[in-house]
Order: sequence, then structure tokens, then C-alpha cells
Amino acid sequence: MRALVTGGAGFIGSHLVDALQAAGHDVAVVDHLSRGHTRNLERAIGRGVAIHKTDVTDVPAMLAVFQAVRPDAVYHLAAQIDVRRSIADPSTDAHVNIGGTAAVLEAAREVGTPRVILASTAGVYGDPGTLPTPEHSPIAPLSPYGASKAAAESYMQLFTRLHGISTLALRMANVYGPRQDPHGEAGVVAIFSGAAREGRTATIYGDGTQTRDYVHVSDVVRAFVAAGRSPVTGVLNVATGQETSVFGLAKQFGLDMQFMPGRAGEIQRSCLNPTAAAHSLGWRAEVVLADGLESLR
Ligand SMILES: NC(=O)c1ccc[n+]([C@@H]2O[C@H](COP(=O)([O-])OP(=O)(O)OC[C@H]3O[C@@H](n4cnc5c(N)ncnc54)[C@H](O)[C@@H]3O)[C@@H](O)[C@H]2O)c1
Repeated sequence: MRALVTGGAGFIGSHLVDALQAAGHDVAVVDHLSRGHTRNLERAIGRGVAIHKTDVTDVPAMLAVFQAVRPDAVYHLAAQIDVRRSIADPSTDAHVNIGGTAAVLEAAREVGTPRVILASTAGVYGDPGTLPTPEHSPIAPLSPYGASKAAAESYMQLFTRLHGISTLALRMANVYGPRQDPHGEAGVVAIFSGAAREGRTATIYGDGTQTRDYVHVSDVVRAFVAAGRSPVTGVLNVATGQETSVFGLAKQFGLDMQFMPGRAGEIQRSCLNPTAAAHSLGWRAEVVLADGLESLR
């Protein structure tokens, strides 16, 4: 299979590139390297990955990449991922996350790419009424980031109806693991592990009772690889179904804590029901949080 990974120099994307190559696929990357790094792709470069330094919102440039690569599957991970930045600058967030997805789908339509997978987020649910949250729960984002990902999902489904492209959005919980940038959407694990290594105090925004569902990047990457092979369309949660408070996470790292006021757009409780992914992809998270955190020390 020829696979194209947008955002392939980033945290999750670079692990996905490694996994796709390990599975024997030809892999190309689109990344304009605003946040990603070629050092994340050292192993992949050694194995011949092609890197296109292209902005996903640039339609002619994306079309040229698709014509060169002729992918059988596209994994669209390139995005504006910072919730706080999305609140400060919602038009840029929409441009990258909605415009970028539309550009990927347009290029896929032009060259006849049969399968597109989108990296979506638990943030589309906002503060949900049901925990762990199933896929049929209402879409009610609390930030422009959540709204732009919900719109991107809608474009995916539209291109399935309109052009017959097989599309699937993976709504990921908070992903953690090696290569994570501490300034990302789920940077709290990276921030806390950095604080633990350097003996610093952890800053907690709010009272620390806010919860998240932490899923290890190796599990997430297995879900993407399975999704690329599968004919399933629509949306699927990629999560553990386990809820952990930020306070509890800091305690697992043995950190001293200081508390600051809570931040706008922050979800109070988040935990996703992963049952549908188990049924349709045969996927479930395997890494236990304590083991995943231990590997970051
Ligand atoms: N990290 C998480 O916990 C999490 C949770 C849910 C969803 N997601 C989604 O997963 C995807 C990957 O997230 P990540 O944590 O690996 O982030 P990341 O910032 O490490 O990776 C994103 C990559 O996209 C690239 N990029 C950004 N804008 C681009 C553009 N306009 N053109 C080309 N490249 C561009 C960046 O340079 C970076 O390499 C994103 O779509 C994000 O919204 C992440």
C-alpha cells in the first residue's frame, strides 16, 4: 500500500509513519514543519520515507503531492492542535483544520484516493452528559478547536456521500508517549514528566478534579493502521474508557503542585467509550497508564 501521512513529522504522525513502514507500506509525509521535526523521522528517513514540506491548506501544492504519491490511503493528522490558540485566533484554527481537511479531500477526489482517515478529538463532545461517552452523544464543543474538528468530520462524511470516498474519523482521547511536545493538546503528561525529571513543581489550572482519558501513542497508532485497512466509515472513539484526574496524574508522578485559576474552553470531565472500535476494528487499548508513564521517566 502507498500511504500518505499529513502531519507526519509530529508526535502521533511520526509514530504512525514508523508503524506503517514496519508493516511494509510505502510511506510519504506532508508536513510544513511548523511544530513537527525531521528528528522525529530519523528512522523513517533511513528507510526511505519521502517528506513533502507542504502546507496542507495549499490546494495546488497538495494536488501536486497527491499526483506524485498516488496514495491508497491518507492519514490526515496535520492540524492546529492548541485549544488556547484556537480561542485566541479561531479563524486560523478554522483555516488549518477545516480548510486543510477540505484540501486533502479535494486532492483525494482528484486522484481517486479510495480511503481517508482523519485525526479527530474527544473535544467534539465538549462536557458530555454520558461518561464514558459513546459516539452517538451530541456534538457540543467548548472551543473553536473542537468545533473545527467537528466540521472536518462533517466534510469527511460529505465526501463519502458526494464522491464515494471511504472516510473514517478517529476521535482520540488524550494521547501521550515519547516525542510529545509539552505545548500540545494533551501536553500535560509531557509537562508533568518533564517536571518530575527536573524536580519542578507542577502547575494545575483549576482544582485538579478535571479528568481525562489517557491513551498511549502505540495504541493509537495500531488503531490508525487498522483503520487504514478497514472499510468502516463514520466516526470511532480511540480511548481506554478509563478516567484519571489531573490531580491523580500529578500524584502518579510524585509531583508537588501549585494551583492556578481554571482556563476558558477547558472540559471538566472527558472519558470515551471504546466499545465500537473493538467491534468494528478489533482494536482495544493495551497499555496500562502506570506502565505508559513509567516508560517516560
Ligand atoms: N495529542 C493528542 O492528544 C491528540 C488528541 C486528539 C486529537 N489529536 C489530533 O491528532 C493530530 C496529531 O496531533 P499531535 O499531537 O501529533 O500534534 P503535533 O503538533 O505533534 O503534529 C501535528 C503536525 O502537523 C503539522 N502541521 C500543522 N499545521 C500544518 C499545515 N498547515 N500544513 C502541514 N503540516 C502542518 C505540524 O508541523 C506537526 O508536525 C492532530 O490532528 C490533533 O488535532 C491529538
